[in-house]
Amino acid sequence: MGDMVLLERRKRRHIEVCLDGDVGYHGVTTGLERYRLPYNALTQTRLDDVGLGTEFLGVRLRAPVLVGAMTGGAELSGLINRNLAIAAQQLGIGMMLGSQRVMFNNALGEAAAASFTVRDVAPDVLLVGNIGLAQLTSEAVPDIAAALDRVGANALAVHTNPLQEAMQANGDTDCAGSLERLHEVVPMLDYPVLLKEVGHGIGRSAVAELLRLTGESPVAAIDVAGAGGTSWSRVEQFVHYGELRYPDLADWGIPTAQALLEVRAALPRIPLVASGGIRTGSDAAKALALGADVVAVARPLLSAAIESAAAVVEWLQRFIDELRVCLHGCGATDLLALRGLGAVPVG
Ligand SMILES: Cc1cc2nc3c(=O)[nH]c(=O)nc-3n(C[C@H](O)[C@H](O)[C@H](O)COP(=O)(O)O)c2cc1C
Repeated sequence: MGDMVLLERRKRRHIEVCLDGDVGYHGVTTGLERYRLPYNALTQTRLDDVGLGTEFLGVRLRAPVLVGAMTGGAELSGLINRNLAIAAQQLGIGMMLGSQRVMFNNALGEAAAASFTVRDVAPDVLLVGNIGLAQLTSEAVPDIAAALDRVGANALAVHTNPLQEAMQANGDTDCAGSLERLHEVVPMLDYPVLLKEVGHGIGRSAVAELLRLTGESPVAAIDVAGAGGTSWSRVEQFVHYGELRYPDLADWGIPTAQALLEVRAALPRIPLVASGGIRTGSDAAKALALGADVVAVARPLLSAAIESAAAVVEWLQRFIDELRVCLHGCGATDLLALRGLGAVPVG
């Protein structure tokens, strides 16, 4: 069976397992529950006037929220991506696509490309393409650029996921030289590049690697994609072995709050996405208060996206409404004010 057929089959299993399976962390939380927003009983704000607008990677957003990178290429992906994109357009938020690796293949590329085509329904959204760090090579630059051009992306997310790959059948487990490739290839692309994990966290040690060669980050932005939400080590074990073979590895990762604080401390000005277990507007508000510029939500939107665009809008509107109340209750008129207030460690 060809590599691409196997890839499509695995993607289909990922969706099935994420919909049905027990794929969250068991012993690890995001750590956001250890923080409280500073409630202000004498807030001077008007709820309706609270401003959630921001700019991220050069695009204006009506709220600091991205649909997390999920899918593309597999059956159902076209429907999922279109419903997510329609919702993102309606709400004025951003959207990250799933891995576009399948678009590189000549035989399947055309059909796969269709599942990523959303610009017709989402002309204005911040659209972030996606590729694995293992696929980021100088030889692949023309394919990557063509895939981004084709979907009308504004930026590229590169996912680094060594733990997930180690759990995967025939995963990419040779990570040697990936840092040099990042430094070499990123300047060859005409798109801003965001580095992301997939739910095990980018923290202090990854940032130290990122800065090691030149003292500067080769990427324009980071999505910490920390632990506490979907565990891709768990998903991949179910897909590969049909069972949870290594329970401890399914619960390994840097909690989202910790990852966020570590990256923000090392890189005070880098545009930063908080994701991994962001489930409520209150989670989002805490992450933004702790230094994130935007948040991203992935798995909770999956079943809604299979249902309809309206179901995605409903989920996200409730999330954004809660976030707005959080700012109001803190006395923050906008995101900058919220950041200034910070979040209070519990206890
Ligand atoms: C069905 C599904 C498919 C995913 N596929 C990708 C992908 O192709 N590329 C990627 O960078 N992340 C992918 N992710 C990971 C998410 O972007 C995110 O980092 C992770 O799920 C943690 O966020 P969550 O707790 O909100 O789900 C996927 C997530 C889901 C649920």
